[in-house]
Amino acid sequence: MHQLEVPLKNNKYTILIKQELSNRFDSMLENIEHYSKIFIVTQQSIIDSVSCNALSKYPTIVIPEGEDSKSISAVESVVSQLMDLGCNRDSLLVGFGGGTVTDFTGFVASIFMRGIDHVFIPTTLLGMVDSSIGGKTGVNNNGARNVIGTFKQPKAIYIDPLFLKTLSKKDIISGFAEIIKYGLIADKKFYNTVKSNFIKLIRLENIDQIESIIYQCCKHKINFFIDDEFDYNKRMILNFGHTIGHAIESYYNYKNISHGEAVYYGMIASAFISHKHGLLIESDFNHIHDFIFNISKVGLNNLDSEKVYKYIKYDKKRMGNKNYFILLNDIGKADIVENVTSDDIKEAITFIANYEYSCN
Ligand SMILES: NC(=O)c1ccc[n+]([C@@H]2O[C@H](COP(=O)([O-])OP(=O)(O)OC[C@H]3O[C@@H](n4cnc5c(N)ncnc54)[C@H](O)[C@@H]3O)[C@@H](O)[C@H]2O)c1
Repeated sequence: MHQLEVPLKNNKYTILIKQELSNRFDSMLENIEHYSKIFIVTQQSIIDSVSCNALSKYPTIVIPEGEDSKSISAVESVVSQLMDLGCNRDSLLVGFGGGTVTDFTGFVASIFMRGIDHVFIPTTLLGMVDSSIGGKTGVNNNGARNVIGTFKQPKAIYIDPLFLKTLSKKDIISGFAEIIKYGLIADKKFYNTVKSNFIKLIRLENIDQIESIIYQCCKHKINFFIDDEFDYNKRMILNFGHTIGHAIESYYNYKNISHGEAVYYGMIASAFISHKHGLLIESDFNHIHDFIFNISKVGLNNLDSEKVYKYIKYDKKRMGNKNYFILLNDIGKADIVENVTSDDIKEAITFIANYEYSCN
């Protein structure tokens, strides 16, 4: 079992990672505090795929699949269902699913009766290594991701890596985008291990190794937000590859391309700018783009660079007149810079749009 404490001043909580932990989820949820009722928010494909006593024990609210479920109208519908089911301020909400479910559930928990407690049980790789951790919640509006959102930390996060056995290969590969990101921004040794074992890892051949990778990613994520919970400084580094990645997802209207697939392209584009700015040496840039371009993922299909660029103006890292961008100084080291121009970004998008990738 791996256990991590998130030592936030006003909100300490625990992350537990262990195979077969799901057998004990009900007793774990009931032992956090004495809640009057426990409610689960999840999706039908999760109910159909994973077996877990908590799913049948507590009232369950099912939200639709896909990014479209992260909407204000879905929030209104879930709030109405919670009221009908007798949810009150002493109740606990459990987000049981991938990043879509946990972003959505965290948001509902932060506004229902001015805020109730919540716990996350992530079931996707991306959820286990990234989206369930750190307290960012959100829903989308008008094609812009997470523009309606809050910061609210869960009471606990419970991770059973065996849930990954039923996840699609596309979603496993999507989760690895965030894993590779931690290596690129913070841990060269970790990056090299993931790169050298990549084929075995995405086949989930060794779940012990996957469990250890999840643990290391959670540690990295905590390290980035523990002193910057509200994302004004160091936490922004976690957005490496996401400015352009988010724009690509918006360009495709969140259809066909997964979050991680878009982030892969965003990371290559950001490495391209890092090299252009003289921060990342050519051989490192070549290693990064050879590795990431060859990871099996959806192609970009004649991406229109100008249109993608237009979506960047919504990026939340624009504060005042400053346009913050995350660049690599080295593999395993990143920084926040302010002098990335619109031409740099357009050139980088054109680079990824035109690169001959192999799709296997
Ligand atoms: N809050 C954050 O810090 C943060 C960080 C990164 C990403 N995100 C958000 O995460 C979302 C993407 O999350 P995701 O990649 O986990 O996708 P997802 O939640 O949409 O899940 C992908 C699909 O897998 C299914 N699924 C989930 N677990 C399964 C399992 N164990 N077996 C079989 N099927 C399963 C889901 O029902 C869904 O259809 C985006 O909305 C993104 O904005 C949030």
